[in-house]
Amino acid sequence: MRILLKSMDEIRLMREAGLVVSGILDEVCAMVAPGVSTWELDRKAAQLIEKHRVTSAFLGYYGYPAVLCTSINEVVVHGIPRKDHVLKDGDIIGIDFGIFREGFCADSARTILCGDVIESTRKLVDVTRESLDLAISHCRAGNRLGDVGAAVQNHAEKHGYSVVKTFVGHGIGTKMHEDPPVPNYGVPSGGKRMKHGLVIAVEPMVNAGASDVEVLDDEWTAVTKDKSLSGHFEHTIAILDDGPWVLTRASSRPGDPGRD
Ligand code: MF3
Ligand code: CO
Repeated sequence: MRILLKSMDEIRLMREAGLVVSGILDEVCAMVAPGVSTWELDRKAAQLIEKHRVTSAFLGYYGYPAVLCTSINEVVVHGIPRKDHVLKDGDIIGIDFGIFREGFCADSARTILCGDVIESTRKLVDVTRESLDLAISHCRAGNRLGDVGAAVQNHAEKHGYSVVKTFVGHGIGTKMHEDPPVPNYGVPSGGKRMKHGLVIAVEPMVNAGASDVEVLDDEWTAVTKDKSLSGHFEHTIAILDDGPWVLTRASSRPGDPGRD
C-alpha cells in the first residue's frame, strides 16, 4: 500500500473530525467513576455521535460491536463495553474512540484514573501520556518514524516499563488504518522519512510488566500476558513543514503551531 499525503484542505477537514472526537472524549471521560459500567460510557458516546451527525469508525469494523474500546487495568486495547464491566475505585481505563466526518477519520485514546489510584499506577499513566507527548515533538517533516518510536520506547523503558509491539499506530485519512504502520519502538534515524501532509495516529501502549499480550476468547480484548497494568494514549497528528498539528487536541498549547 502507498502512503497517501493529505492536502491542507483535507487536513482542515480532519481537524474538524478531530475536534468532534476530542469533545466527545471529554464528555465520556468525565463520566468515569466507581460504579459506572463501560456499557454506559459506550451509550453516551453513541448518543453524542448522533447529536454531532457523524459516524463511528469502530462500530462494525471487522464486526466490532461498539463505538468505544474500553480497556480496564490489564486490558491493553480493544476491550468491549459491557453492562457487567463496572468500574471500581483504583481502576484505570483506556477509552479509545474514532469517527468519520465528511469522509475523514479521526482516532484518539486516553487512559483515565477512576477514583483514588495508587501512586505507582498513576506513574504508569503519566509516563504513557508523556511518551505520546515526546513522540509528538518528533513528528516533523524530515524526521523519521524511528525517531517517533524511539521516543516512546526510550521514555517507557527508562521508567522500567515496556512497550507493546504487537499493536502499532497507523496512517489515517479516508480509512481509519492506512499506511504507514507507526510502531512504538525503533531507532532514531531509522524507518520511513515523514513528509509534509502525512497524517498518522500515534498510540503508545505501555505495560508496567512485560510487553507480551494475548487476545481473549472474544477475539478482541487484548490483555498483558503477565496481567500487569497497561496504559494507552492516542492522537491523530498531521505532519506539516512547520511542525505537528495535533488534530484530536482541543486547543493549541505553547509550542504547538497556533492554528486555532
Ligand atoms: N484506535 C484503535 C486502532 O487504531 C481502535 C480500533 S478498534 C476497532 O486500531 F474496533 F475499530 F477495531
Ligand atoms: Co488508532
